[in-house]
Amino acid sequence: MMKVAIVGTGYVGLPTGVGLAELGNKVVCVDKIEDKINRLNRGELTLYEDGLEELFKKNVAAGMLSFTTDMETAVKDADIVMLAVGTPPHPLTKEADLKYIYAAAAELAPFLTGYTVVATKSTVPVGTGDEVEEIVRKNNSKADFDVVSLPEFLREGFAIHDFFNPDRIVIGAESDKARNMLLELYRPFAGKCEFLCVKRRSSETIKYASNAFLAMKIHYINEMADFCEKSGADIREVAKGMGLDSRIGKKFLNPGPGYGGSCFPKDTNAMAQMGKKYGTRLNLIETTIAENDARKARMGQRVIETIREHPEGKIAVLGLAFKGGTDDCRESPAIDIIKEMIRHSRNIRVYDPKALANAKAILNNTVSYAESVEEACKDAEVAVILTEWEDFRHLDLARLKKIMRCPKIVDMRNMLCGEEVVAAGFDYQCIGRK
Ligand code: UDX
Repeated sequence: MMKVAIVGTGYVGLPTGVGLAELGNKVVCVDKIEDKINRLNRGELTLYEDGLEELFKKNVAAGMLSFTTDMETAVKDADIVMLAVGTPPHPLTKEADLKYIYAAAAELAPFLTGYTVVATKSTVPVGTGDEVEEIVRKNNSKADFDVVSLPEFLREGFAIHDFFNPDRIVIGAESDKARNMLLELYRPFAGKCEFLCVKRRSSETIKYASNAFLAMKIHYINEMADFCEKSGADIREVAKGMGLDSRIGKKFLNPGPGYGGSCFPKDTNAMAQMGKKYGTRLNLIETTIAENDARKARMGQRVIETIREHPEGKIAVLGLAFKGGTDDCRESPAIDIIKEMIRHSRNIRVYDPKALANAKAILNNTVSYAESVEEACKDAEVAVILTEWEDFRHLDLARLKKIMRCPKIVDMRNMLCGEEVVAAGFDYQCIGRK
């Protein structure tokens, strides 16, 4: 058993804390936001993640997981302190803003006792480990510690699944002592996944290079989908045929409205900025960023086109989260597409099974909000699926046909069976086939 402190209780920190407690470690999570910690201490989760609640309650009850706003309480006995605070894009430069990482490093430093590993879980630019090391040293000249890069590859919505089924664990450490301590922490996964021990700077780069590659893969399949729409091919067949080549792989070949979320947009931008900083051209990444943005605007236009004959008609939006299985709307393609549509229509009614509250905080009163698919679609001119929620796979088409003003569906997540939708009397558009 190890004592672990986790700084930051967001989408990375909280599932990681719960997961490490479940593996038998004593975990204390610390966050500056008092309201969050109060809620967690009352047994209330502060974000939605499949499977999180049960493990959270179990480990709190067992005394393996606790929450505090006090850095000293969290850090003083810890063997490992993990930094899992946000690294949002800087509003002007789009570089990763490291102010929370640096502040956390300065704040925790005085409370380190004994040998401690300070591990960065947040996605941070190359060289951040060096900076964190310097900050800790400056704030506690006697501290016995090492700074390690420990990138996190959890997907939102699948964080608990991914935590217990990692593809690889990457440890970027410059000292054997730190490396061995992390190997020990992750020993329950020995034999189940690859362990990769590398230089700290390589580890920092692996995270960005992986996310940028995945974003590029999505952009590529979206381009192929555009091509299929024009050429008469079917993207489902094309993606399947490509994915059967094990060098390409089946995953991340689903075309859609463009990628979003708290990671891909931020990390591709940060990687592009790093390329500039080091004077290397990262053209593929820069093109991916620009084309993904342009795609979202085009998708908004595509919907507007469907109401051309009745521009006052109501647009029903199904799905606001950046993908299914999460309530997160950060950089959600749905939100950007809605913003594009708002330029042409003030009659948009939106629904999402989990993300309404988060979307409201962004869209305010520019759209109206529905509590169900039916409420959103009533009298609508067109219904647009923007997030792949399982519920949307089983829409009651006969009922929708009755309540919509016009039976039209634009399915940007290719969720529905086109033949069935057309047979039910709808005009149906999807991505990557006619
Ligand atoms: C991503 C990485 O997958 C994860 O390893 C990293 O730790 C954090 O960033 P996440 O942002 O949770 O995870 O979402 P992900 O499932 O990767 O999807 C990102 C975006 O790409 C979503 O908008 C999703 O809808 C889109 N996407 C994904 C596609 O459009 N097509 C696909 O085939 C896959």
